[in-house]
Amino acid sequence: MFISRLVAPIVTLFLCLGEGNVVEALTASAFAAYPFDYIIVGGGTAGLVVANRLSANPNIKVGVLEAGASGLDDPIIYTPGKVGWAVGTSYDWNFETIEQPVLNDRKLGWSRGKALGGSSAINFYVWMRGNKPDYDAWANLGNAGWDFDSMIPYFKKPEHFHEPSPTDATNFKLDYVTADHGSTGPINTCYSIQYGGSHQYWHDTLNNLGVPRRDTFGGSNWGVWTGLTSVNPNNRTRSYSASQYYLPFSYRTNLHVLTNAMVRKVVIQNVGGHQTATGVVFTHGGVDYTVNAASEVILSAGTVQSPQILELSGVGNPTVLSAAGIPLKVNSPKVGENLQDRIMTVMLYEIDPSVENQDPLQDPIELAELELEYNTNHTGLLTVLPTDFAYVPLHYFLNSTYVNYLRGLVTGTDDRTNNIKSKLNHTLDLGSMEFVFDPNQLFPLITPEPGKKYGTVFQMLQYPFSTGSIHIPAAVGGVSPTSDDHPIIDPKYYEGDGIVDMYTMAEAQKFADSIARESPLSSIIVQRVVPPEPAPGTETDWLQYVKDTTISDWHPIGTCAMGGTGGIADGVVDEKLKVYGVKRLRVVDASIIPVQISSHLQGTVYAIAEKGADMILQDYQCKRRRRRR
Ligand SMILES: Cc1cc2nc3c(=O)[nH]c(=O)nc-3n(C[C@H](O)[C@H](O)[C@H](O)COP(=O)(O)OP(=O)(O)OC[C@H]3O[C@@H](n4cnc5c(N)ncnc54)[C@H](O)[C@@H]3O)c2cc1C
Ligand SMILES: *[C@@H]1O[C@H](CO)[C@@H](O)[C@H](O)[C@H]1NC(C)=O
Ligand SMILES: *[C@@H]1O[C@H](CO)[C@@H](O)[C@H](O)[C@H]1NC(C)=O
Ligand SMILES: *[C@@H]1O[C@H](CO)[C@@H](O)[C@H](O)[C@H]1NC(C)=O
Ligand SMILES: *[C@@H]1O[C@H](CO)[C@@H](O)[C@H](O)[C@H]1NC(C)=O
Repeated sequence: MFISRLVAPIVTLFLCLGEGNVVEALTASAFAAYPFDYIIVGGGTAGLVVANRLSANPNIKVGVLEAGASGLDDPIIYTPGKVGWAVGTSYDWNFETIEQPVLNDRKLGWSRGKALGGSSAINFYVWMRGNKPDYDAWANLGNAGWDFDSMIPYFKKPEHFHEPSPTDATNFKLDYVTADHGSTGPINTCYSIQYGGSHQYWHDTLNNLGVPRRDTFGGSNWGVWTGLTSVNPNNRTRSYSASQYYLPFSYRTNLHVLTNAMVRKVVIQNVGGHQTATGVVFTHGGVDYTVNAASEVILSAGTVQSPQILELSGVGNPTVLSAAGIPLKVNSPKVGENLQDRIMTVMLYEIDPSVENQDPLQDPIELAELELEYNTNHTGLLTVLPTDFAYVPLHYFLNSTYVNYLRGLVTGTDDRTNNIKSKLNHTLDLGSMEFVFDPNQLFPLITPEPGKKYGTVFQMLQYPFSTGSIHIPAAVGGVSPTSDDHPIIDPKYYEGDGIVDMYTMAEAQKFADSIARESPLSSIIVQRVVPPEPAPGTETDWLQYVKDTTISDWHPIGTCAMGGTGGIADGVVDEKLKVYGVKRLRVVDASIIPVQISSHLQGTVYAIAEKGADMILQDYQCKRRRRRR
């Protein structure tokens, strides 16, 4: 399924299809010479939201530099049934962590989208929202305006929720409160129209384990539910930042997007005694260019690369920068620190061969038929996505004695650690662990035996203590790293206070296993294959299994976090997302999140970008008013 595909190496031409107005992209040299007000680094999830909102004002000239290509016309990007196929292709940066000592020195793959739309182009279409306390924690650190209630308008602004038919709502057990969703935003969200062969059993199975059906968008997201997806309901294609925030607006003559453009650094100059961002250096077609930004530079390069670019620009920890041979402009010790990723394990079960799943996609002839059906009628297996979700509080799998023991292991005393510690509470109804079942083999854990079908149980820890870092590497032979050199990603999984994550994962694994053994889901399970069923009289060593098989769930945050009351000692940007110590420079993407939330991230990243764009526009209006006076 992880087919490597060559992306048509088209020039960076962007033609607006269907809108009448055809705008040709600027060449790289014309882009560099263009009098932009704002330059956005990274045309990903957040970057294209900001570009759209700023360029809605025809007087504001916006330039976007994106390292990847467009995948707008590529079925592996937009077809729901091909979920996961773009992982590992040229649409993926294919990062890797350094060796993780607690994970038997394994290096873990770290997917990040490298395409117009960024990770929203390759993600798994899950649309959801965290708990109220998750966002309130950001505000409690001293980041005014980021509490859940203040965020609600920004959760809704990106979204256009499409209600299911009453028949679908009943048949597929869809629980929703329309008022909790947006109705006029660019990103379409809807429920699937067809489901895999396990869906009918999912809710009752979790109910039998004591987990109730609940709607989850109102600030409390635990329970069992059918997943909402970021899909265009009219043609069942991916609804993401490139297709919704960019393509329909690409006719705007004040908005210019240059793809295949690799940003090297932000130009930071001393202007009137202040370090000030004045532009960006980028490479396109082997040539280096500098482009100026009269108002601001916005970094939206994501959790891995926004800190990388800050360091390459001279903003960061002096030790890191001097090792890399980069002249220090601003001593900002938290750049690249505070990395919190989401931790995942999966188990594999053999399922009954009669269960409908995505296996026909592996057969070229059947795939061609399914593609014809999908393209003609927008129906069939290629519309199917993983949608069987449960977010389960700790008390379902940890007793109070054990929770108290785990709390005692936590040594950190900073506000962020205390916040996560407060969520390690046996009585709290927070979705601390996510469980998903999908009747497919979504990870190549074994070579499938012919004629057999497999199902995957996923388990993802929501509030990790494991805290790592992302930094540029040291200079080699006197040569400094560039943005081509992958940064050193060290999530420090299960190290330090992260030991609590490991024990929590091991205990939760028993609950995950009990899901497959509970009726009615158990009726389609033949046997567990990874890890193999234990020999009679023995038990699976779950702690060992967790060490052996933990992988990333691709939700890293925190490397340019909002610093709150601690300011530059605790973070990289203020609550207006302005980089401490540098004028006219902001970060707007997942990296600004100071504490992990219990949710898939894209809905929150869109909200961050909408809020960021609002704050940038407010400052723009203030400056204009000041100039007029
Ligand atoms: C495989 C996968 C599955 C996921 N599944 C889900 C899901 O189902 N639901 C969900 O809610 N979330 C999911 N996520 C997470 C979610 O998609 C991300 O958290 C979110 O999209 C991040 O947005 P961002 O704007 O911070 O970064 P990105 O969207 O990654 O954008 C960063 C952009 O910057 C560009 N860039 C980086 N460096 C440079 C440079 N030097 N020069 C020029 N451009 C540069 C990149 O190419 C990219 O386009 C998934 C993520 C992955 C990787
Ligand atoms: C699907 O519809 C959306 C609008 O809802 C449109 O932007 C997109 O181009 C269409 N995709 C395809 C492949 O037809
Ligand atoms: C599309 O749907 C119609 C009506 O159900 C059906 O007759 C036709 O065979 C379908 N086309 C394809 C290509 O599946
Ligand atoms: C609590 O859970 C731990 C870890 O599974 C177990 O060792 C212990 O026996 C349990 N204690 C009680 C009182 O159930
Ligand atoms: C756990 O949560 C309950 C309910 O909110 C609260 O009363 C209690 O003080 C918390 N315990 C700890 C140790 O934080």
